[in-house]
Amino acid sequence: MSGSQSRGIRRFNLVVKRYDPDSSEFVTKTYSLEADRFTTVLDALIRIKETQDQTLSMRYSCRMSICGSCAMVLNGRPRLACETNLFSLGTDKVEVGPLEAFVQLKDLATEFNEFFKKHAYANPWLIRRDTEEKFKAEKEYVQTRTQVDHYLDFANCIKCGLCVDACPVSNTNPSFIGPQALSQAYRYNSDSRDEGERERLIKLDTLDDVWGCEYAGACSVVCPKGVDPALAIQLLKLDIMKSRFGGRTSSGNK
Ligand code: SF4
Ligand code: FES
Repeated sequence: MSGSQSRGIRRFNLVVKRYDPDSSEFVTKTYSLEADRFTTVLDALIRIKETQDQTLSMRYSCRMSICGSCAMVLNGRPRLACETNLFSLGTDKVEVGPLEAFVQLKDLATEFNEFFKKHAYANPWLIRRDTEEKFKAEKEYVQTRTQVDHYLDFANCIKCGLCVDACPVSNTNPSFIGPQALSQAYRYNSDSRDEGERERLIKLDTLDDVWGCEYAGACSVVCPKGVDPALAIQLLKLDIMKSRFGGRTSSGNK
């Protein structure tokens, strides 16, 4: 057994699909490097940039699955590059490409303007009827454990865009608001401090919003934070129907 093998080091070929903004075309370039079992795809890309090709562009920040910046497509599936261990992919040849449902910027970097516009459209903040209340600050809004549990899983979204990239509707209908924004609408509807559920349900009761979802479920499969946007969207659909017929919606459970 060689020294490299005893240390668990293997050689990987990263086949990187790079977008060239000057020609608006993709080119594929293969980079070869050795990696140990702790090496993530992002580690490998940074090393390639530092030692082999300074022109390679990608976006990243935290390197610890928190900021959501390093989303890309790895071996055909949208993933966080900083969370994906090279060994875990099960292949020595690893295909790396940019997110496909987003506007391409350069190489592996994509643009998120539309994504954040859609996120903001869903009113992802606490709405209070008394708009002056925040300037008085007379009391705390204490929540019970159960009240927190109603929305906590949905609050873990890091806005990485993986769910949107995996969604077949987002990929074919640019007007669809997408799983991320809808899951955040549900997150705030379920928060006991919020009073904006009715406003959001009326706003999102359209074919490009809640009813655009065809329940493929891919969003929930790829989400690195267990947010389960597919579930959130079905609960929004249910709440819209209940609100039409006078039933108790999510805000009634708060
Ligand atoms: S719901 Fe999950 S996959 Fe979608 S943006 Fe949030 S963290 Fe990323
Ligand atoms: S670099 Fe922040 S999530 Fe990957």
